[in-house]
Amino acid sequence: MRTDIVHIGAGELTYEIRNIVNVGEKLQKLGIRTYWENIGDPVAKGEEIPRWMKEVVAEFVMQDASYGYCPTRGILSTREFLAEQVNRRGGVQIGPDDIIFFNGLGDAISKVFGFLRRTARVVVPSPSYTTHSSAEAAHAGDRPVCYRLDPANHWYPDLDDLEKRIKYNPAVAGILIINPDNPTGAVYPEEILRGMVALAKKYDLFIICDEVYQNIIYNGQKTLPLSDLIGDVPAINMRGISKEMPWPGSRCGWIEVYNGHHDPMFEKYVNSILNAKMVEVCSTTLPQKALPALITHPEYKTHLAERVSRYERCSNIAYDILKDIDGLIVNRTNGAFYMSVAFEEGVLNDKQSLPIAGKDVRAQVEELVNKPGTSLDKRFVYYLLGATGVCVVPLSSFATELQGFRVTLLERDEEKFRMIFGMIADGIKRYINS
Ligand SMILES: Cc1ncc(COP(=O)(O)O)c(C=O)c1O
Repeated sequence: MRTDIVHIGAGELTYEIRNIVNVGEKLQKLGIRTYWENIGDPVAKGEEIPRWMKEVVAEFVMQDASYGYCPTRGILSTREFLAEQVNRRGGVQIGPDDIIFFNGLGDAISKVFGFLRRTARVVVPSPSYTTHSSAEAAHAGDRPVCYRLDPANHWYPDLDDLEKRIKYNPAVAGILIINPDNPTGAVYPEEILRGMVALAKKYDLFIICDEVYQNIIYNGQKTLPLSDLIGDVPAINMRGISKEMPWPGSRCGWIEVYNGHHDPMFEKYVNSILNAKMVEVCSTTLPQKALPALITHPEYKTHLAERVSRYERCSNIAYDILKDIDGLIVNRTNGAFYMSVAFEEGVLNDKQSLPIAGKDVRAQVEELVNKPGTSLDKRFVYYLLGATGVCVVPLSSFATELQGFRVTLLERDEEKFRMIFGMIADGIKRYINS
């Protein structure tokens, strides 16, 4: 090419959660039975869509209007419904025009970061859900600016570290909060959230908050939605139906803009996001139409509570199986449906391995782990996959130097769940001691 056509941030766009599937599928073809514990899709893990939910959606499927475009911001009655839900809590107050719908939060994330000025940075958690950290890094064409989530303190944000990142980096214009968190499963207590909002206020920053898991909290943990504590700080709060419905294929998420008119620059920025959506016309119509009817359905709360209690049971089973293994830092998951496990420093090295029965599978794994630059946790993940078929995601692919893995808690069959975690525990012990 006579001109470089590659975007400056192209190298920052990685999504190991799906990349690892390519490896798993290769090994599957060689005869390995694979247990997919890498991706947060409840439906892919066998979650049955309840009949009442299908009936509600079917009702809207029969209406012609569900097949048309909708307004750029989204369907007005649905935005009114959502704004009322926020306002009823008594915190920050919003109107329907403070809400914009997107084709899933993935779309919202790429617009929210994509339309930030190149030189303005949003400090993101480390580890971080890759869609956020990659989109932020890609917009800047540089490595993400991160604050530490502390595995020795329930994976809570380290507020001192966050303040340092802000103070010594004048390019930082915003803070990203994911609560409950992916990949750690942490649920942040009120005082931590208040500390983060206070830092935004002190340094004149805005907040981006991802609350896609806000209604998936268990083990008696408590948190608050951002709308309760934001005060007068400008913020973009992300919500969606992919996780709590369960309907990730709807591609339906939205942003709620808090204090959108308090700062002219913030107002202009939010307008640019709206204009970007306008160029695309609008987001998916059908799920927006069905959303209020689904949320207010008499079965909705019971259905969600049943799922949440299942994740609670699984979080405890997983914790009990892994917590006493030497060399690991293990925190019980309290929200969302992921668990992140870190290896203590120095536990992993590039000589460790697991026995793999099939010659071809072994050769494939060895080829992968011998690729230059393969991180030590990726090496572990490939051996685990080759030896047991369990597919997890290396923690180092979530914008962190920490070595470990992320695993989902979505397996519905409890016996199978125990078996999978038994294989992980056994694999870790044998790998560390090999
Ligand atoms: C924290 C977080 N935000 C956003 C998303 C993406 O959601 P959507 O399906 O709406 O694109 C995910 C998906 O796993 C997630 O974990």
